[in-house]
Amino acid sequence: MHTQNTQLKVMVTGATGGLGSKLVPFLQAADWCAGVVAVDRDSQVLAERFAMLSKVERRTIDLSAPDMGFVASALQGVDAIVHFAILNPLPDSSWSEAAYSFDMTARLLLLARDHGLQRFVFTSSNHALGNYGQEPLRHAIVPGGLTTELFAPGSKWDTAAGEITGYAYGAGKIFGERLCLAAAKRDGLSTVAVRIGWCQAGENHPSTLDASGNPNLAALGRTPRDDPAELRWFRNMWLSNRDFLHLMERALLADADAWPSPGIVVNGMSANRGMGWDIDTARRTIGYLPQDNVWDSVLDEEAFIGG
Ligand SMILES: NC(=O)c1ccc[n+]([C@@H]2O[C@H](COP(=O)([O-])OP(=O)(O)OC[C@H]3O[C@@H](n4cnc5c(N)ncnc54)[C@H](O)[C@@H]3O)[C@@H](O)[C@H]2O)c1
Repeated sequence: MHTQNTQLKVMVTGATGGLGSKLVPFLQAADWCAGVVAVDRDSQVLAERFAMLSKVERRTIDLSAPDMGFVASALQGVDAIVHFAILNPLPDSSWSEAAYSFDMTARLLLLARDHGLQRFVFTSSNHALGNYGQEPLRHAIVPGGLTTELFAPGSKWDTAAGEITGYAYGAGKIFGERLCLAAAKRDGLSTVAVRIGWCQAGENHPSTLDASGNPNLAALGRTPRDDPAELRWFRNMWLSNRDFLHLMERALLADADAWPSPGIVVNGMSANRGMGWDIDTARRTIGYLPQDNVWDSVLDEEAFIGG
């Protein structure tokens, strides 16, 4: 169904976002990648980021526009899509923002299937299990026990207006995963939904992960709570830049014939020692072999306090 030997042309949506900005230059350098179609809404930002990259076609497209003709024409010759685009990538997403993003995913996925693409990679989120970040669920976590068969959205989230429980973002990701599973076909489009941990924009050093999980908290004039257990929750989901790029490469290239079904859902975190997240499934299905471990760079304060 999918070959590691073929030269693939890859569309990346949300290409100028935090994760797209890392993946597009990586694809430019990958010898198996024949070309990249970088899709986002702002032509100037697309040009600033990617004008120097010879393999990259820049396409300014609003994926929420009712006419999908521009997307269909951009899909000519494309073999695989990595779908990052989302209206609001944070748990303070409203239900209408989540529905908008779900619509983009559904329409693009069905178009990909109709156009005979081989692979659709959907970026789901750790927030599908956001409720495990709090008690009482947090107490029940065992190493490797957080599998993608579990569903528990409901991250507690600090906003300018105070704490909220973010159901819409996590639920939107779970439904996106389910849609990918339903759309996948043997001898047709195969899908990989990846529950990404926390891969910060830019350098992404473990020392800048905090107990809020919110990259915008400082801009809101708020400081994260001094809570070692919450800090540990967020550190354990760290995904280093190197592991992120390897994860996306494996999600694009892995042979779907060996999977239990043509669509799969996997977790995407680094090899963080003792974490609850199951990455064994990603290792078995797509050959994901992360190399980094958050606890090599930061002190586990919770374990320290506990002796
Ligand atoms: N960064 C992380 O740690 C992390 C963790 C879990 C899941 N994810 C998921 O990974 C994906 C990428 O995350 P990110 O941090 O790069 O997000 P981001 O917000 O930085 O990037 C999203 C991009 O989507 C684009 N976009 C929004 N609406 C669009 C539209 N209508 N048409 C075309 N483009 C549109 C935006 O312009 C933006 O460049 C998201 O789906 C996010 O939910 C990220």
